Amino acid sequence: MKRAAPATPVLFSTDPQPRLRAEIAPGAVHVPGWLTPEQQRELVEACRRWAAGPVPMRHTRLPNGGVMSVQTVCVGWHWRPYAYSRTAEDVNGARVAEFPGWMTELGRRALAAAYEDPAAGEGYAPDTALINFYDGAAKMGMHQDKDERSDAPVVSLSIGDTCVFRLGTTVGRTRPWTDIQLASGDLFVLGGPSRFAYHGVPRVHPGTADPASGLAGGRLNITMRVTGLTGV
Ligand code: SIN
Ligand code: FE2
Repeated sequence: MKRAAPATPVLFSTDPQPRLRAEIAPGAVHVPGWLTPEQQRELVEACRRWAAGPVPMRHTRLPNGGVMSVQTVCVGWHWRPYAYSRTAEDVNGARVAEFPGWMTELGRRALAAAYEDPAAGEGYAPDTALINFYDGAAKMGMHQDKDERSDAPVVSLSIGDTCVFRLGTTVGRTRPWTDIQLASGDLFVLGGPSRFAYHGVPRVHPGTADPASGLAGGRLNITMRVTGLTGV
C-alpha cells in the first residue's frame, strides 16, 4: 500500500514564486492577494452593474480607426483616448455613473497598504475609475497613463484570470522592463517616480481565475485615478 505523501510544511512551501509585497520600481508596488474573495465578488457585481449602463461597456475606438481589444466602462469621468468627459459622446451620449464613496475609501486603504504607511492614503481623492475586461485574447500595449492632469497615484485592482503585467520606464515603451504576474485580488500602485512609467498587459492566461473571485472567465482590471479636472 502506498503511503500518502507528508504534507509540505508552509515554511518549506515549494511555491516557485512566493507572493509577497514587492516594490518593482520606486513608487511602483505590487501587493499580491490584497482583496479578499468576498471583496472581489462585490467588485465583480459592481462592475457588472456599470457594464450594463448608463454607458455600456464596449471596445474603445482609437483615433487611428482601430479598436482596443479590452472592453471598458468608466465611472466618475468617461475616458477616451486623450480626453475625459462627464458624458460618453463616443458611445451613447449618456452621463457616466457617479464615482462611489466606497471606492474612494478602498483607494485610500490601497495606498496605505502599498506604501506600508497609514498616512499614504490620506487625502487621496480619485474621481474616475476605468474598468477593463480582458477576454483570453485581449491585451494592452505599452502606454503611459497621462490623460490625467494630476500626478496622484494610480491604484489598480485585478480580478479573475492572471495576466502578465509589464512595467517599463518613464523614458519610452521599449526595454528595459519587468514582467510580473497579476493574479486575482492583486493590488498594484503606480505612484511617485513611477506614476508616468510605461506599462502594458502583453498576455492573459485563460482559465487561471479562482472561481471564488466571482468571475467565471476573463480578467477585470479597475484603475482609480485623479483626473485633476473640475466641473460637474
Ligand atoms: C491600464 O494600464 O490601464 C490597465 C492595466 C491592467 O490591466 O493591469
Ligand atoms: Fe494604463
